[in-house]
Amino acid sequence: MMLAPKILAIGATAASAANLFVSDYGGAVTSFALTASNGTYALNDTFSTDECAPSPSWLTIDANRGLLFCLNEGLSTPNGSLSSFTINGDGSLTHVMNETTISGPVSGVIYGAAAGQRALALAHYSGSSVTSYLLNGGGKFALNQELTYTLDEPGAVPDRQDAPHEHEAITDPTGKYIVVPDLGADLVRIFCWDDETLKLRELDPLETAPGTGPRHAVFWNPYGVACEECTTYFYLVGELDSTITAFSVEYLPNGGGLNFTQVFNSTTYGLLSLPEGNAPAEIQVTPDNRFIVISNRNNTSFDLPQPDGSILESDSLTTFKLQDDGSLVWHQLWPSGGSFPRQFSIDKTGSLVAVANQNSQNVAILQRDTATGLIGEPVARVTVGGNTTCVVWDE
Ligand SMILES: *[C@@H]1O[C@H](CO)[C@@H](O)[C@H](O)[C@H]1NC(C)=O
Ligand SMILES: *[C@@H]1O[C@H](CO)[C@@H](O)[C@H](O)[C@H]1NC(C)=O
Ligand SMILES: *[C@@H]1O[C@H](CO)[C@@H](O)[C@H](O)[C@H]1NC(C)=O
Ligand SMILES: *[C@@H]1O[C@H](CO)[C@@H](O)[C@H](O)[C@H]1NC(C)=O
Ligand SMILES: *[C@@H]1O[C@H](CO)[C@@H](O)[C@H](O)[C@H]1NC(C)=O
Ligand SMILES: *[C@@H]1O[C@H](CO)[C@@H](O)[C@H](O)[C@H]1NC(C)=O
Ligand SMILES: *[C@@H]1O[C@H](CO)[C@@H](O)[C@H](O)[C@H]1NC(C)=O
Ligand SMILES: *[C@@H]1O[C@H](CO)[C@@H](O)[C@H](O)[C@H]1NC(C)=O
Ligand SMILES: *[C@@H]1O[C@H](CO)[C@@H](O)[C@H](O)[C@H]1NC(C)=O
Repeated sequence: MMLAPKILAIGATAASAANLFVSDYGGAVTSFALTASNGTYALNDTFSTDECAPSPSWLTIDANRGLLFCLNEGLSTPNGSLSSFTINGDGSLTHVMNETTISGPVSGVIYGAAAGQRALALAHYSGSSVTSYLLNGGGKFALNQELTYTLDEPGAVPDRQDAPHEHEAITDPTGKYIVVPDLGADLVRIFCWDDETLKLRELDPLETAPGTGPRHAVFWNPYGVACEECTTYFYLVGELDSTITAFSVEYLPNGGGLNFTQVFNSTTYGLLSLPEGNAPAEIQVTPDNRFIVISNRNNTSFDLPQPDGSILESDSLTTFKLQDDGSLVWHQLWPSGGSFPRQFSIDKTGSLVAVANQNSQNVAILQRDTATGLIGEPVARVTVGGNTTCVVWDE
């Protein structure tokens, strides 16, 4: 039996506070204050806005500049939108802009020179596209580029692989490439960009096994240093076949792209038997660089008794321990605190995991033991006004 740690790294005696931003399909972006006093936590909403309505799906925070970008997936409208906010000292948000986009934006990443011209790349699920918006300071932005993809014939899972479905945009550890898992096309698309215009150019993609359904991914440098010659691994979550696949990454000469060699694969349940229908979603490397956490959805693995006697159905988070050769050792399966953990964010201390449980319409803050890497009991949980899509720490 795994024991949940009772002592937390923060907030043991003095009051402390952290802010979080949460998006939900009810149309809201909400700010929450997590306060800890004498070992007891409270999670209170402090601000809410509908200026990313109707279908907020993803939040990209630019903490250094005090900006929050929110994507509206536009589930019941022909188009999506991109909204920007400035983050105020009290955790409230001031709206800057809202622009109509190609339909279905679900993830975004900032790229470009840290102190120079930067842009935001968006992955569009229903719109089969990658788009780029130039960031012009203070939350202002302007359309830079739209790249839309098609599929010649449906993939191995016709209802989800009817068309390309760009599901996430991340940068590689050197900040030279953008990587976009495409769930519909069984590809991981790789892009470089022009330093002046920040226009993207597609390079040779990583082709996955048919029916994988690439959704989200992370890079990992085992020794914590990022460079083209450094040891680099890439971990890809296949939503449709419920797999985690590890690749070693070779940087091709002269900015020519990335070459991937598979080094390990497993179901996202690791050593445990995979339940039917499981659909993993999010993946993160823990801040200590020692573990990978993946969320599992769509086949409740835990029934959690509640104080009022009711039962809360919960999906799960899997933790794997990272090995120097890129392989993974299964470490833990633990309740996510609700149904359909679409996304989660680990705080920078590694001691708290905030989970967006989409179908339970909640956010659960789980404690995590940074010494053992084991996730533990929730310290706080709140219900939001719609299906939860994303939660980010303001830090
Ligand atoms: C702090 O928590 C301990 C243990 O739960 C309790 O005994 C003590 O009374 C609390 N102190 C305050 C000031 O609430
Ligand atoms: C925060 O929420 C808790 C319940 O979770 C409540 O007891 C407390 O009064 C709230 N605090 C504030 C400042 O609203
Ligand atoms: C933002 O743009 C979208 C797409 O055009 C639109 O549906 C939505 O109403 C707009 N939201 C606001 C707050 O203006
Ligand atoms: C609205 O969505 C359609 C289909 O994705 C796209 O062709 C069109 O350019 C979008 N409009 C804007 C303003 O982005
Ligand atoms: C990519 O790596 C494989 C070995 O895994 C090698 O055979 C292939 O030539 C490499 N491709 C390029 C473009 O370097
Ligand atoms: C791992 O990959 C191999 C092919 O490289 C495949 O045959 C096998 O089924 C995969 N295992 C899992 C658990 O996905
Ligand atoms: C969940 O997984 C179990 C074990 O694979 C299976 O028996 C059950 O039918 C699945 N339930 C659903 C709703 O998919
Ligand atoms: C959930 O699982 C069921 C079968 O158990 C499947 O029909 C359905 O497509 C799955 N949903 C998702 C989102 O993967
Ligand atoms: C919202 O959650 C409910 C369960 O609470 C689920 O049936 C529904 O499919 C979800 N819809 C979306 C768009 O997330």
